[in-house]
Amino acid sequence: MAKKFKVFVTRKIPKIGIETLRQKAIIKVSPHDRILKQRELIKMIKGKNFDALLTLLTDHINDQVLDAAGSNLKIVANYAVGFDNIDLKAASKRKIYVTNTPGVLTEAVAEHAFALLLAASRKITESDKYVRGGKYKGWEPMLFLGKQLHEKTLGVVGLGRIGSYVAQIARGFNMKVIYFDIARNKQFERKFQAYFASMPHLLKEADFISIHVPLVPQTHHLIKAKHFKMMKNTAILINTSRGPVIDEKALVYALRRKEIAAAGLDVFEHEPHLTPGLKGLKNVILTPHTASATIEARNEMAKITASNILAVLEGKKSPNLVNKF
Ligand code: DGY
Repeated sequence: MAKKFKVFVTRKIPKIGIETLRQKAIIKVSPHDRILKQRELIKMIKGKNFDALLTLLTDHINDQVLDAAGSNLKIVANYAVGFDNIDLKAASKRKIYVTNTPGVLTEAVAEHAFALLLAASRKITESDKYVRGGKYKGWEPMLFLGKQLHEKTLGVVGLGRIGSYVAQIARGFNMKVIYFDIARNKQFERKFQAYFASMPHLLKEADFISIHVPLVPQTHHLIKAKHFKMMKNTAILINTSRGPVIDEKALVYALRRKEIAAAGLDVFEHEPHLTPGLKGLKNVILTPHTASATIEARNEMAKITASNILAVLEGKKSPNLVNKF
Protein backbone atom coordinates (compact mmCIF):
# COMPACT_ATOMS: atom_id res chain seq x y z
CA MET A 1 0.00 0.00 0.00
CA ALA A 2 1.40 3.40 -0.96
CA LYS A 3 2.38 5.67 1.89
CA LYS A 4 0.08 8.64 1.74
CA PHE A 5 1.46 11.04 4.30
CA LYS A 6 4.53 13.27 4.27
CA VAL A 7 6.13 14.29 7.55
CA PHE A 8 8.98 16.73 8.13
CA VAL A 9 11.08 16.28 11.28
CA THR A 10 13.14 19.34 12.21
CA ARG A 11 15.92 17.39 13.94
CA LYS A 12 16.94 13.81 14.65
CA ILE A 13 14.93 12.29 17.51
CA PRO A 14 15.09 8.75 19.03
CA LYS A 15 14.62 6.21 16.27
CA ILE A 16 11.51 4.61 17.76
CA GLY A 17 9.60 7.77 16.76
CA ILE A 18 10.93 7.77 13.21
CA GLU A 19 10.33 4.02 12.79
CA THR A 20 6.74 4.34 13.98
CA LEU A 21 6.07 7.14 11.52
CA ARG A 22 7.86 5.34 8.70
CA GLN A 23 5.33 2.52 8.77
CA LYS A 24 2.72 4.88 7.40
CA ALA A 25 4.41 7.99 6.09
CA ILE A 26 7.30 9.31 4.07
CA ILE A 27 9.66 10.99 6.51
CA LYS A 28 12.11 13.75 5.80
CA VAL A 29 14.45 14.57 8.68
CA SER A 30 16.48 17.79 8.60
CA PRO A 31 19.97 16.87 7.39
CA HIS A 32 21.50 19.13 10.04
CA ASP A 33 21.71 17.83 13.60
CA ARG A 34 21.41 21.35 15.00
CA ILE A 35 18.82 24.04 15.63
CA LEU A 36 17.51 25.30 12.29
CA LYS A 37 17.36 28.99 11.57
CA GLN A 38 13.85 30.00 10.67
CA ARG A 39 14.79 30.76 7.07
CA GLU A 40 16.35 27.30 6.75
CA LEU A 41 13.23 25.64 8.07
CA ILE A 42 11.09 27.67 5.69
CA LYS A 43 13.30 26.67 2.76
CA MET A 44 13.12 23.00 3.73
CA ILE A 45 9.33 22.86 3.86
CA LYS A 46 8.19 25.41 1.26
CA GLY A 47 6.36 23.86 -1.70
CA LYS A 48 6.91 20.31 -0.34
CA ASN A 49 3.32 19.75 0.80
CA PHE A 50 4.08 18.15 4.14
CA ASP A 51 1.05 16.85 6.05
CA ALA A 52 2.79 17.12 9.41
CA LEU A 53 5.67 18.92 11.07
CA LEU A 54 7.44 17.30 14.01
CA THR A 55 8.98 20.24 15.85
CA LEU A 56 11.21 20.88 18.84
CA LEU A 57 10.97 23.58 21.49
CA THR A 58 13.81 25.38 19.67
CA ASP A 59 11.67 25.84 16.52
CA HIS A 60 9.55 28.98 16.46
CA ILE A 61 6.41 28.08 14.60
CA ASN A 62 4.55 31.18 13.50
CA ASP A 63 2.60 32.62 10.56
CA GLN A 64 5.61 32.64 8.25
CA VAL A 65 6.47 28.98 8.89
CA LEU A 66 2.86 27.85 8.58
CA ASP A 67 2.43 29.82 5.35
CA ALA A 68 5.55 28.18 3.97
CA ALA A 69 4.23 24.73 4.92
CA GLY A 70 1.12 25.37 2.85
CA SER A 71 -2.43 24.12 2.90
CA ASN A 72 -1.63 20.40 3.21
CA LEU A 73 -0.37 20.83 6.75
CA LYS A 74 -2.70 19.26 9.32
CA ILE A 75 -0.60 19.00 12.46
CA VAL A 76 2.37 20.49 14.23
CA ALA A 77 3.46 17.88 16.77
CA ASN A 78 5.83 19.34 19.32
CA TYR A 79 8.41 16.98 20.80
CA ALA A 80 8.01 18.57 24.26
CA VAL A 81 5.37 19.05 26.89
CA GLY A 82 5.81 22.85 26.68
CA PHE A 83 4.49 24.49 23.52
CA ASP A 84 5.28 28.18 24.04
CA ASN A 85 7.37 28.01 20.84
CA ILE A 86 4.21 27.62 18.76
CA ASP A 87 1.78 30.39 17.88
CA LEU A 88 -1.44 28.55 18.65
CA LYS A 89 -3.63 31.27 17.17
CA ALA A 90 -1.74 31.11 13.89
CA ALA A 91 -2.21 27.32 13.82
CA SER A 92 -5.87 27.38 14.84
CA LYS A 93 -6.87 29.95 12.25
CA ARG A 94 -5.47 27.58 9.60
CA LYS A 95 -7.20 24.59 11.24
CA ILE A 96 -3.86 22.97 12.03
CA TYR A 97 -3.74 20.81 15.15
CA VAL A 98 -0.99 21.29 17.69
CA THR A 99 0.00 18.49 20.08
CA ASN A 100 2.49 18.01 22.92
CA THR A 101 3.90 15.13 25.00
CA PRO A 102 2.37 15.25 28.49
CA GLY A 103 2.87 12.57 31.12
CA VAL A 104 5.93 10.85 29.72
CA LEU A 105 8.61 13.18 31.08
CA THR A 106 7.09 13.92 34.48
CA GLU A 107 9.45 11.69 36.46
CA ALA A 108 12.54 12.70 34.47
CA VAL A 109 11.96 16.42 34.99
CA ALA A 110 10.98 16.04 38.65
CA GLU A 111 14.08 13.93 39.34
CA HIS A 112 16.22 16.57 37.65
CA ALA A 113 14.64 19.30 39.78
CA PHE A 114 15.69 17.26 42.80
CA ALA A 115 19.15 16.67 41.36
CA LEU A 116 19.59 20.45 41.11
CA LEU A 117 18.10 20.96 44.54
CA LEU A 118 20.43 18.46 46.18
CA ALA A 119 23.44 19.64 44.18
CA ALA A 120 22.79 23.25 45.18
CA SER A 121 22.07 22.51 48.82
CA ARG A 122 25.13 20.23 49.20
CA LYS A 123 27.43 22.29 46.92
CA ILE A 124 28.15 19.24 44.79
CA THR A 125 29.59 20.96 41.73
CA GLU A 126 31.87 23.18 43.80
CA SER A 127 33.05 20.16 45.81
CA ASP A 128 33.76 18.19 42.65
CA LYS A 129 35.83 21.05 41.26
CA TYR A 130 37.69 21.29 44.57
CA VAL A 131 38.65 17.62 44.62
CA ARG A 132 39.66 17.55 40.94
CA GLY A 133 41.65 20.73 41.48
CA GLY A 134 43.82 18.88 44.01
CA LYS A 135 42.65 21.05 46.89
CA TYR A 136 41.40 18.22 49.09
CA LYS A 137 43.92 17.71 51.88
CA GLY A 138 41.80 15.61 54.25
CA TRP A 139 38.58 15.75 56.23
CA GLU A 140 37.64 19.15 57.67
CA PRO A 141 34.90 19.97 60.16
CA MET A 142 33.73 23.04 58.26
CA LEU A 143 34.30 22.07 54.64
CA PHE A 144 31.40 22.68 52.23
CA LEU A 145 28.68 22.85 54.84
CA GLY A 146 25.30 22.54 53.17
CA LYS A 147 21.69 22.35 54.19
CA GLN A 148 19.62 19.24 54.92
CA LEU A 149 16.31 18.70 53.21
CA HIS A 150 14.88 16.81 56.17
CA GLU A 151 12.01 18.78 57.76
CA LYS A 152 12.64 21.82 55.55
CA THR A 153 9.84 23.46 53.59
CA LEU A 154 9.58 23.01 49.84
CA GLY A 155 7.46 25.55 47.99
CA VAL A 156 6.13 24.16 44.71
CA VAL A 157 4.95 26.79 42.24
CA GLY A 158 2.55 25.10 39.83
CA LEU A 159 0.94 21.82 40.87
CA GLY A 160 0.61 20.17 37.47
CA ARG A 161 1.95 16.71 36.76
CA ILE A 162 5.60 17.63 37.33
CA GLY A 163 5.01 19.90 40.33
CA SER A 164 2.89 17.20 41.97
CA TYR A 165 5.57 14.59 41.48
CA VAL A 166 8.24 16.91 42.87
CA ALA A 167 6.03 17.36 45.95
CA GLN A 168 5.63 13.62 46.23
CA ILE A 169 9.43 13.09 46.13
CA ALA A 170 9.82 15.82 48.74
CA ARG A 171 7.59 13.91 51.15
CA GLY A 172 10.05 11.01 50.85
CA PHE A 173 12.73 13.37 52.21
CA ASN A 174 10.38 14.23 55.06
CA MET A 175 9.98 17.78 53.80
CA LYS A 176 6.96 19.95 54.46
CA VAL A 177 5.29 20.80 51.16
CA ILE A 178 3.47 24.04 50.43
CA TYR A 179 2.27 24.89 46.95
CA PHE A 180 0.76 27.64 44.90
CA ASP A 181 -1.36 27.07 41.83
CA ILE A 182 -4.27 28.89 40.21
CA ALA A 183 -6.43 25.94 41.30
CA ARG A 184 -6.38 24.39 44.73
CA ASN A 185 -6.19 20.56 44.86
CA LYS A 186 -7.63 19.40 48.18
CA GLN A 187 -7.32 15.73 47.29
CA PHE A 188 -3.60 16.20 46.70
CA GLU A 189 -3.30 18.12 49.97
CA ARG A 190 -4.86 15.24 51.87
CA LYS A 191 -2.84 12.54 50.13
CA PHE A 192 0.57 14.19 50.56
CA GLN A 193 -0.06 16.41 53.59
CA ALA A 194 0.61 19.44 51.40
CA TYR A 195 -0.61 22.94 52.14
CA PHE A 196 -1.94 25.52 49.74
CA ALA A 197 -0.27 28.91 50.12
CA SER A 198 -0.59 32.29 48.45
CA MET A 199 2.42 33.22 46.34
CA PRO A 200 3.75 35.79 48.89
CA HIS A 201 3.31 33.29 51.73
CA LEU A 202 5.12 30.57 49.79
CA LEU A 203 8.01 32.88 48.90
CA LYS A 204 8.44 33.94 52.52
CA GLU A 205 8.11 30.47 54.06
CA ALA A 206 9.91 28.11 51.72
CA ASP A 207 13.50 26.95 52.21
CA PHE A 208 13.49 25.55 48.68
CA ILE A 209 11.32 26.80 45.82
CA SER A 210 10.76 24.77 42.66
CA ILE A 211 9.02 26.29 39.64
CA HIS A 212 6.68 24.16 37.49
CA VAL A 213 4.45 26.49 35.51
CA PRO A 214 4.05 26.70 31.73
CA LEU A 215 5.26 29.86 30.00
CA VAL A 216 2.21 31.96 29.14
CA PRO A 217 1.85 35.75 29.23
CA GLN A 218 0.69 35.55 32.88
CA THR A 219 3.79 33.64 34.01
CA HIS A 220 6.39 35.75 32.18
CA HIS A 221 8.68 37.14 34.95
CA LEU A 222 6.46 35.53 37.57
CA ILE A 223 9.57 35.77 39.78
CA LYS A 224 11.16 39.20 39.67
CA ALA A 225 13.23 41.56 41.86
CA LYS A 226 10.59 42.17 44.53
CA HIS A 227 10.07 38.43 45.00
CA PHE A 228 13.72 37.73 45.78
CA LYS A 229 13.45 40.29 48.57
CA MET A 230 10.53 38.32 50.00
CA MET A 231 12.44 35.00 50.02
CA LYS A 232 14.62 33.83 52.92
CA ASN A 233 18.26 34.67 52.35
CA THR A 234 18.91 30.95 52.87
CA ALA A 235 16.42 29.99 50.14
CA ILE A 236 17.37 27.91 47.12
CA LEU A 237 15.44 28.45 43.89
CA ILE A 238 15.10 25.72 41.25
CA ASN A 239 13.75 26.23 37.73
CA THR A 240 13.15 23.37 35.30
CA SER A 241 10.13 24.98 33.58
CA ARG A 242 10.88 27.82 31.17
CA GLY A 243 13.57 30.49 31.56
CA PRO A 244 11.44 33.62 31.04
CA VAL A 245 9.35 32.70 34.11
CA ILE A 246 12.22 34.23 36.12
CA ASP A 247 13.64 37.70 35.50
CA GLU A 248 17.19 36.45 35.05
CA LYS A 249 18.83 39.84 35.50
CA ALA A 250 17.05 40.23 38.84
CA LEU A 251 18.14 36.69 39.76
CA VAL A 252 21.80 37.47 39.07
CA TYR A 253 21.48 40.56 41.27
CA ALA A 254 19.77 38.58 44.05
CA LEU A 255 22.40 35.80 43.96
CA ARG A 256 25.24 38.30 43.91
CA ARG A 257 23.78 40.25 46.83
CA LYS A 258 23.02 36.97 48.68
CA GLU A 259 19.34 37.89 48.87
CA ILE A 260 18.91 34.15 48.31
CA ALA A 261 21.49 31.43 48.94
CA ALA A 262 21.59 29.61 45.61
CA ALA A 263 19.77 28.60 42.46
CA GLY A 264 19.64 25.56 40.22
CA LEU A 265 18.64 26.34 36.64
CA ASP A 266 17.95 24.03 33.73
CA VAL A 267 16.34 26.76 31.62
CA PHE A 268 17.33 30.32 30.79
CA GLU A 269 15.55 33.48 29.85
CA HIS A 270 17.35 33.85 26.51
CA GLU A 271 18.36 30.27 25.77
CA PRO A 272 21.06 29.32 24.91
CA HIS A 273 22.50 32.68 26.02
CA LEU A 274 23.08 33.40 29.69
CA THR A 275 22.47 36.74 31.34
CA PRO A 276 25.85 38.42 31.94
CA GLY A 277 27.19 37.58 35.37
CA LEU A 278 25.27 34.32 35.77
CA LYS A 279 28.03 31.87 34.91
CA GLY A 280 30.55 33.65 37.11
CA LEU A 281 28.50 33.01 40.24
CA LYS A 282 29.49 30.16 42.55
CA ASN A 283 26.04 29.85 44.08
CA VAL A 284 24.26 28.73 40.92
CA ILE A 285 24.17 25.36 39.20
CA LEU A 286 23.47 25.36 35.48
CA THR A 287 22.35 22.50 33.25
CA PRO A 288 21.59 22.82 29.51
CA HIS A 289 17.80 22.22 29.42
CA THR A 290 18.32 18.52 30.03
CA ALA A 291 15.67 17.89 32.67
CA SER A 292 13.78 15.52 30.39
CA ALA A 293 16.97 13.99 29.00
CA THR A 294 16.61 10.41 30.16
CA ILE A 295 16.60 7.55 27.68
CA GLU A 296 13.21 6.48 28.99
CA ALA A 297 11.57 9.90 28.71
CA ARG A 298 13.02 10.77 25.32
CA ASN A 299 11.95 7.42 23.82
CA GLU A 300 8.44 7.88 25.17
CA MET A 301 8.38 11.46 23.88
CA ALA A 302 9.32 10.15 20.43
CA LYS A 303 6.59 7.50 20.56
CA ILE A 304 3.88 9.84 21.74
CA THR A 305 4.82 12.51 19.17
CA ALA A 306 4.64 9.92 16.39
CA SER A 307 1.30 8.64 17.60
CA ASN A 308 -0.06 12.20 17.83
CA ILE A 309 0.85 12.68 14.16
CA LEU A 310 -0.59 9.37 12.99
CA ALA A 311 -3.82 9.90 14.92
CA VAL A 312 -4.45 13.25 13.27
CA LEU A 313 -3.40 12.12 9.79
CA GLU A 314 -5.67 9.10 10.04
CA GLY A 315 -8.59 11.32 10.97
CA LYS A 316 -8.71 10.34 14.66
CA LYS A 317 -8.56 12.65 17.63
CA SER A 318 -5.19 12.89 19.36
CA PRO A 319 -5.54 12.93 23.16
CA ASN A 320 -2.77 15.52 23.32
CA LEU A 321 -4.26 18.40 21.38
CA VAL A 322 -3.42 21.80 22.85
CA ASN A 323 -5.43 24.01 20.52
CA LYS A 324 -9.06 24.25 19.49
CA PHE A 325 -10.76 25.59 16.39
C1 DGY B 1 9.49 20.08 27.59
O1 DGY B 1 9.14 18.98 27.16
O2 DGY B 1 8.81 21.09 27.51
C2 DGY B 1 10.84 20.12 28.22
O3 DGY B 1 11.23 21.40 28.53
C3 DGY B 1 11.84 19.43 27.34
O4 DGY B 1 12.93 19.09 28.14
